[in-house]
Amino acid sequence: MKVIGTTKIAVVLVGLPARGKTYIGRKVYRYLQWLGVSCKVFNVGEYRRKEAGAYSGHEFFDVKNEAAEKIRMQCAVSALEDLVSWLDSIHNGVAIYDATNSTLIRRKMIYDHCEENDIHVMFVESWCDDEELILKNILEVKKTSPDYVGVTNYDEVEKDFKLRISHYKEVYQAVGECPGEKIPELGDYNEANITYVRKINVGVQMVINQIKDYMQSRIVYFLMNIHIIPRSILFSRHGESMYNQLGLLGGDSELSPNGVKYSEALPALVKRIMGDQDFTVWTSTLKRTIQTASKLDYKKVQFKALDEINAGLCDGMTYKQVKQKFPEEYSMRSQNKFEFRYRGGESYRDVVLRLEPIIMELERQQNIMIVSHQAVLRCIYSYFLEVCPEELPYIKIPLHTLMKLTWTAYGCEAQMYSLDIDAVDTHISRPKMGSEKVKSSGEKKTSLEAQVLGEEIFDTDFKESNILEYSTAENSVSPPKKDELST
Ligand code: ATP
Ligand code: F6P
Repeated sequence: MKVIGTTKIAVVLVGLPARGKTYIGRKVYRYLQWLGVSCKVFNVGEYRRKEAGAYSGHEFFDVKNEAAEKIRMQCAVSALEDLVSWLDSIHNGVAIYDATNSTLIRRKMIYDHCEENDIHVMFVESWCDDEELILKNILEVKKTSPDYVGVTNYDEVEKDFKLRISHYKEVYQAVGECPGEKIPELGDYNEANITYVRKINVGVQMVINQIKDYMQSRIVYFLMNIHIIPRSILFSRHGESMYNQLGLLGGDSELSPNGVKYSEALPALVKRIMGDQDFTVWTSTLKRTIQTASKLDYKKVQFKALDEINAGLCDGMTYKQVKQKFPEEYSMRSQNKFEFRYRGGESYRDVVLRLEPIIMELERQQNIMIVSHQAVLRCIYSYFLEVCPEELPYIKIPLHTLMKLTWTAYGCEAQMYSLDIDAVDTHISRPKMGSEKVKSSGEKKTSLEAQVLGEEIFDTDFKESNILEYSTAENSVSPPKKDELST
């Protein structure tokens, strides 16, 4: 029975192989998760690998291969049943069903099963006839696919994958297409009445049909903005500010002498990383980011949405003063830093929501450098690197460090270039709970943590000219490596 007010959507991807369905599904997943929407991807290829064992070759996808067709149907049904159970277990959410779903019969089966379970279906088709791009996709992602583990001859991969595509082409029906003759199994199934989006040749054209609610329109808007043009995104916090030196929160202070040194060193570092590529620099409207970017000779734009988290009544205090003056709030923040909203100010969740237009614009743009603040950059990084809300407020974004995002097949990697210019450490580690071991007092401490936590100090060794690598592949931070670009 449908509970009033619940929205459960199945985004059902459609498209021939190597049309970017997994890529699109992963991006939608990342965007919605980041906004706080429950989201899960069901990839039928993974079910196939589990149920049918190792991949034997393109013949498995031949429409005349009845035994294989049966297995493929079983896998599609298993994934669909899991999708329905998952949506049944939550109040609101979006499930992404990643498969080719290339025939009307297959889509009718999915649609009927979802409808029976009060799930709104939204078909998202990626249609592409750009042969050069398709070949690039094959070479970029398919040679590393689990289907070709151990195959080192990439010509073989290309040949096999092209044959796989040709099997699908024999039966492919675009979304919204009316079959030439009446197919009895379809009954009155008619995609003209169903919600769908067709992204044609990476968005040269989009066809949008029967969008019915807010969440569907958000997804459509997102799909309209994403692109696959290679680009670079750089992030940096402002240089050390006078407030940072004093351990004060928020404010609108000037850069400290160390911060000025960083702003002077930044153009050379950016040049070494970006070469002659042109880009736009986005700053917040606060003095410390504007001053940090002042020596960068590129077009600049200020965004209020990039201003630091608003600490409300705590603005201008040290963490120690916050703890003394508002002990209960200090403790609440320690327990759930993502949800905690400063009195008269913001929570990290609030910051995520106000950054949504920035993320959308970042998706639309090409080369961009952002100079912003600790909390804001944590929120932006968590979008690209898929960091969960519990971890987000503890991401280490040191001062005097530049981060560069690079795109991988389905996600992002980040590299950090740390300049050897002194700065205080403003990072507060997650408080250790219960019986967790606290480091002994002889170990290295950082000034701000020392103010607040006494002897409960945790390691934050970042001032060693490190290059850190983050990756969506592992959702984790690997140990620091020496940075060849460090000065
Ligand atoms: P398969 O059916 O084999 O799983 P797929 O359709 O899921 O294939 P992906 O594995 O997602 O294809 O292909 C990833 C590649 O597709 C990336 O190189 C990405 O740049 C590219 N890509 C992303 N979006 C599109 C699009 N709209 N059209 C064509 N290619 C795209
Ligand atoms: O300390 C510098 C700063 O940018 C403050 O202005 C801001 O309140 C804080 O970092 C955000 O970090 P956290 O959420 O860890 O307190």
